[in-house]
Amino acid sequence: MSAHFDTIVIGGGAAGLMCALTAGRRGKRVLVVEHANRVGKKILMSGGGRCNFTNTGTTPANYLSANPHFCKSALARYTPWHFIDMVERHGIAYHEKELGQLFCDVSSKLIVKMLLDECHEAGVRVETSCSIERVGHGDSDEARFRLHTSHGTFSSPVLVVASGGLSIPSMGASGFGYELARQFGHTVLPTRAGLVPLTLSGKHQERLADLSGVALPVTAQSNGASFSNYMLVTHRGVSGPAILQISSYWQPGEELRLDLLPGQDALEALQQWQRERPSAELKTVLGDVMPKRFAQRLCEHWLPNRPMKQYNVPQLREIAQVLDDWALVASGTEGYRTAEVTLGGVDTDELSSSTMQSKRVTGLYFIGEVIDVTGWLGGYNFQWAWASGHAAGSAV
Ligand code: FDA
Repeated sequence: MSAHFDTIVIGGGAAGLMCALTAGRRGKRVLVVEHANRVGKKILMSGGGRCNFTNTGTTPANYLSANPHFCKSALARYTPWHFIDMVERHGIAYHEKELGQLFCDVSSKLIVKMLLDECHEAGVRVETSCSIERVGHGDSDEARFRLHTSHGTFSSPVLVVASGGLSIPSMGASGFGYELARQFGHTVLPTRAGLVPLTLSGKHQERLADLSGVALPVTAQSNGASFSNYMLVTHRGVSGPAILQISSYWQPGEELRLDLLPGQDALEALQQWQRERPSAELKTVLGDVMPKRFAQRLCEHWLPNRPMKQYNVPQLREIAQVLDDWALVASGTEGYRTAEVTLGGVDTDELSSSTMQSKRVTGLYFIGEVIDVTGWLGGYNFQWAWASGHAAGSAV
């Protein structure tokens, strides 16, 4: 079989489907080529099955990129409210969980259905279980790109690469987009796992491993970034929203510092406890403001445990210093197997920030996670997928 289209989109994920339906609505003949057996697998598994589909507080400051200005234009032209509009038109009930994060009330399946319905209405053809064997590039403007696939050969003057990042290979993630970018002379910035649990080694791992499941609020800091939220101790290290957020900023060998009493001045708190509960031991008073097992472990290995009245001011200062600024030595990350996103990717310097088109190859576009733009945890990554998909879909 061979067929010709106005636009071919590689990848039926969040960005690819948004691009396809936007271009289809403009009367373009669009084909989406998806190698998995269904589209939108990451949407389905996202947000614990309820898809945190956007964040109403989205700003360019919520993204990491070698060029922090690149995401501005697309985000300004397709805002969370545009996507919310579509969600409401399809009658999908949603709620705000915290900090502007919007989730479906029922299931993320409804978001995939909405995108597929929109694609269907716009006349988009979707080929699933379709493997791409080779992408040819010719001289004729009409058939500039030729995709040789397990379902036949497809040609088009426009090719949009929306194949995502490397996280969760079992869900269809592949390095295909990066390889294709290199094939067309693009620079791919080094990739690494982001929004990912961190692993500990040596003493930290030994001392914390059996606390797996214990969670406490912290402020995590690394590389100039800081996030206040919960940390969860795991068998191999630490996770939870504060750690997932900071993992995108932390790099092996760099420091990770935790404030274990966020929002409190530790020295003031210790002095107050000393006045009010002089006979209580440190582990007991700490056990009232953080999980008891965690407080006890801190007092076994990192803090001297005594009745509060026995500490002098310099000793209280030393304890406060540990509580305010606990240095955790992470050895690595859990990697792409569990990461929510991939940092790095196609260099934005070689793309137009308003259309996502390549500055090197006419008709070639990159959108979504394959580009070097990565959002924080909390709906920002889908918002980037929608916004960049919409930018390309409006331009092709
Ligand atoms: P995406 O990965 O969605 O789509 C790429 C598509 O291309 C896939 O369907 C893939 O199969 C296909 N593909 C790959 N190689 C191909 C090839 N060679 N040929 C054809 N097709 C190919 N974000 C957020 O904002 N809120 C949330 O709640 C979550 N939750 C979440 C949970 C988990 C477990 C993960 C792993 C990730 C999240 N994310 C998230 C992140 C979010 O899922 C991610 O940023 C977007 O899906 C990126 O959209 P893309 O369309 O760029 O890639």
